[in-house]
Parts: sequence; C-alpha cells; structure tokens
Amino acid sequence: MIYNSPRGTYDYFGEDVKYINFIIDASKELFKLYKYSEIITPHFEYTEVFSRGIGENSEIVKKEMYTFLDKKGRSLTLRPEGTASVVRAVVERKLYSENLPLKLFYIGNMFRYEKPQKGRLREFKQIGIEAIGSESPAIDAEVIWILHDLFNNLGFKNLILNINSIGCSNCRKTYINLLEEYLKPHYENLCDDCKNRYGKNTLRVFDCKVQSCKDILNNAPKISDYLCGDCQNHLSEVFNLLNALDIKYIHNKNLVRGFDYYTRTIFEITSNDIDSAQNALGGGGRYDNLIEEFGGPKLSSIGFAIGLERTMILMKELGIDINEDEKNLVSVYLISMSEDYNSFVFKILKFLRKNKIICDNNFNIKNISKEIKNAKLNGYTHIIIIGEDEFKNNLITIKDLNNFTQTKIDWLNEKNKLLNLLKK
Ligand code: HAM
Repeated sequence: MIYNSPRGTYDYFGEDVKYINFIIDASKELFKLYKYSEIITPHFEYTEVFSRGIGENSEIVKKEMYTFLDKKGRSLTLRPEGTASVVRAVVERKLYSENLPLKLFYIGNMFRYEKPQKGRLREFKQIGIEAIGSESPAIDAEVIWILHDLFNNLGFKNLILNINSIGCSNCRKTYINLLEEYLKPHYENLCDDCKNRYGKNTLRVFDCKVQSCKDILNNAPKISDYLCGDCQNHLSEVFNLLNALDIKYIHNKNLVRGFDYYTRTIFEITSNDIDSAQNALGGGGRYDNLIEEFGGPKLSSIGFAIGLERTMILMKELGIDINEDEKNLVSVYLISMSEDYNSFVFKILKFLRKNKIICDNNFNIKNISKEIKNAKLNGYTHIIIIGEDEFKNNLITIKDLNNFTQTKIDWLNEKNKLLNLLKK
C-alpha cells in the first residue's frame, strides 16, 4: 500500500528545496538591511483570531479555513495567513511598548482549503513583513520598496506592481452606498458569488473573475475617486515617495483585496508570465484598526506577504539560475575500493570537512568507472581514489575532474599540499 500526500500538499526535495532556501535566504538578508526582526507564531490559533481579523464574510473565513475542535471542544484553525496571528501576538505580548514602528517578518506554512491547481495549494509557504505603529505614508513606501527589492534581488525583471487605496472606514461607507446604487440595476446579471457579495461585502465584487461581472464593473465608480482629503493625501504621498525611489507602479483602481482588515493603501505584485488566475506573487496593505479591534492601542500598521511556491515556480519557468555560487565551490568525491579501507577513508573525510571542503564517499562499493561518471554528473570538482596501494602506503590519489590531472599525495606528510590543490 502506497500513501499519497493530501490533495494540495507537496513534498519538496532536490532543486525545489534549493530554490526555497535561496528565496528564504535572500529575504532574510534583505529584511536585515531594513531592520526587520523575525517573529515565529504558532501554526494554529483560536478560530476567532482569523474570523474576526480577516472578516466573517471573507472567502477565506467562509470557505477556506481548516477548523477543528480540540479534545476539550475548543475551536482551533490552521493559520490561513500570517497577519492576524502577528497582531494577536503583538497585542498579547505588548510588543508595541518597544520603539515604533515595530518591524517584524515571518516565514512559514499557511493553510487554505482552496481548489488546488498550479500555484494554488492547500498548504503553502508565505514570507511576510508587518510594520506596526506608524501612520506615515513613508512606511507604506518602505514596505512596498522592500517588496520591490525582494523580487529584484531574486532576479525578476517584468513584474507589475499594482497599488490602490480603499480609504478609511468613513470614506468607504459613502463609496459603498454609491457602488450599491450603481450595481442595483445590474443585480440580475451578476454571477451568484457577486449576488452574495452585494450588500454584505460589496467591494469584493472587484475580485470577481467572471467576464460579465468585469464588464459591469468597467463603468462602476472607483473607490480611489471618492477618498476623503486625508486618504487622498496619504495615497499621493505614497506615490511621491515611490517616484523618488524610481519604483514603477500602476495605480490600479480596480484593485481590492480579500481581507476586511485593510484600510487605505493596498498593493499586489503580479506577473504576466504565469497564468492569469494565480498571477499574484505577493500582496499586502495597511490595516489601521486591527490592533485596536484585537484589544490593543490604536496602532496603524502595514505589511505584505509573498507566496514562496509561486515565486519558485516562476523563477524556474523564467530560467533564473540559483546555482551560480555552487558552481564555484570545490567538492570532493572519495571512492574507496574496499570496505576494509573505511577507517582511512573517514580520516580523510574528517580532515576535509574540518577544512570546510564539501565531500562525500561511496558507501557501496561499485565499479570505479561508474563511480567516476556519477561524480561528474553530480558536479564534483575532484575525486580521491583509495585502492590497495593507497591504503597500504598511506597515499591519496586525487584527480581534478576539470583538467584530469592526477596527483599522488603522502597522507601523513603532505596534508597541506592536498589543501593547496583544492584551493581554486
Ligand atoms: P494574500 O494575498 O492572501 O495576503 O497572500 C499573499 C500571497 O500568498 C499571495 O500573493 C500568493 O502568492 C500566496 N498565496 C495565497 N494563497 C495561496 C495558495 N492557496 N497557494 C499558494 N500561494 C498562495 C495575505 O495573506 C496577507 N496576510 C498579506 C498581508 C500582510 N497584508 C498585510 N500584511
């Protein structure tokens, strides 16, 4: 009997793990430059953290959460995203008493019961940041700057940064009335999902992928045309700062995002190189009321998260090479011709590893030409052969696989010669 992994989950190994670690390392390096520090929160929370944080009427809370009762009947949910958990932690641990804005990043697995397809999984990884405790448009610009830098550093060239503002609770209220007025005569022509959104979560109709709904929305009033003075100024200043940084963006007036906690600036980074439904590589926005709603003080905040798998898929499709550094590394494959030479083999490996040289050996004794072929295939730069002569006389035969030069070294007296040979 062979078991399958659950639908929408994956096992990662080989090249994929290299990409995942490459993206994580690049992110951590970048976050350090901007003085963000890591926060690690649990993979599950009390369900209320998400239902209140993300919003009862959001698609995620209504349809996509992995919710279960524990043995004491408490409702728990596997986190579908990171922001609500971080906010819960910040409020519970009173982390806001430190210098503000509090700059945090997180890396971890999220869970959403979605229809699995390419780039859309039920367990997926996000890398995100949250800047807590500043209302300044400068922090919006910084957060977007980091998102931009991150994809730039990973080697992406043609990504599109969409930005919009959905205003504050005041200007949004007026606007929603206007939007509902506009949609009323079109109600019968909306898809079932949009009919459901109408009146409860009307703004979300802009998320609809159905063409007839999109057509109706073409002429609908757009929220960023109805912002109050403060929200308008905030958005203009974010744009000014991004212009000063030479960051290209599109003011996408149709952009809305699927979380109730957002206020003012929202943004998404997309690619035209992957199929349109899953083309968002990352997204984020401002949430000025969430900390207060979670029982903390009024602390305006903003953050984003990127999808690690989507980023990896696109990097691979675009042929972005991450093995550059590895290609320059010296690595040795040690081929022993008999199990009896194992203690000699281990002494050599111990010496190499102590000197930070990547090495491995053949645990199963096979044909030597097969071993050499494998060593080449696996990208080793050198092989060391230990046969009867070498074992008996404490010798090492080392072969450079690039130019096929072969050298014999006296193991007891010439260890430094070995190191010199391995230095590039
Ligand atoms: P989100 O847009 O839901 O935002 O997710 C961010 C990114 O996670 C998406 O752009 C996508 O790349 C990836 N992602 C989402 N769902 C899936 C999935 N089912 N499979 C694979 N990848 C997926 C948030 O989660 C917000 N918490 C971002 C944020 C932080 N806003 C403020 N701070």
